Amino acid sequence: MKVRKAVIPVAGLGTRFLPASKAIPKEMLTIVDRPTIQYIVEEVVASGIEVIIFITSEGKSAIENHFDYNFELDTMLRQKNKIELCEEICHVSNLIDIIAVRQKKPMGLGHAIWTARNVVGNEPFMVLLGDDLVLSDKLPCCQQMLNLYDEIGEAGESIVAIQQVNPDETNQYGIIEGKPTRAGVYLVEKMMEKPAPGTTDSNLAIIGRYLLQPDIFELLEKTSPGHSGEIQLTDALQALAKKRPMYAYQFEGTRFDAGDKLGYLKAIVAFALRHPALGKNFAQHLQRVCASM
Ligand code: G1P
Repeated sequence: MKVRKAVIPVAGLGTRFLPASKAIPKEMLTIVDRPTIQYIVEEVVASGIEVIIFITSEGKSAIENHFDYNFELDTMLRQKNKIELCEEICHVSNLIDIIAVRQKKPMGLGHAIWTARNVVGNEPFMVLLGDDLVLSDKLPCCQQMLNLYDEIGEAGESIVAIQQVNPDETNQYGIIEGKPTRAGVYLVEKMMEKPAPGTTDSNLAIIGRYLLQPDIFELLEKTSPGHSGEIQLTDALQALAKKRPMYAYQFEGTRFDAGDKLGYLKAIVAFALRHPALGKNFAQHLQRVCASM
């Protein structure tokens, strides 16, 4: 069955980014010339997904507004003959159909995904976490996963994107243990949410891209609070992996944790260097800065 929908949870409080995220959703913080969330939405659109479901909470309306049509702004830009800018603004609002669902209690990532159950219905879907930006020279990470899904072609498999991390960082990620089936692909045997370093031999960390089967909703409903007292998606995934094949995929590209201050700065540098209008000047500036240090 074709994967048509993507769930993007954006309900989190963004405590890692305070005070910047006090009145502005962290997903709206700018990377070069667009908010972080727009990169995620553009990745989804470039991968052929048709509908996005944002899981939101109070104070996050700026995200929906960003992808909405703004009549006043459009009229004003047209009157001033700023047609190029106007088209860029319209491009954002025309990107894709967006549905927003409220997560009424902050009960964790697993609970946030469960909130989408009635809108997703009985079909496979993608999950993209708003903090995780992936820069890829090849295909967007989401598209790479959809391609793998088509290639594997088993009935009802799920896929999680992974990358290798330092063994002393396992407590920052969901970690998978599995058997390699081919280059960069593992059949998942076990998943753990943020295990303490040294408690697993694996350093394969889940990053925020998942292709899931709808059975996950039933499993999430039965999942008890886990790490940090929250309903963890990883715990429900571990149950799903016991029912149906689950693959872990080492995607091609570089992932940035844009929800972390240093990760955000690294993302800005990487995206700025690739910016068609700014990249060259920015690279020269960075060289000067480095040379003067
Ligand atoms: C979440 C997931 C974790 C995953 C991580 C990737 O954790 O629970 O399994 O490895 O995203 O960014 P969070 O960073 O939201 O605590």
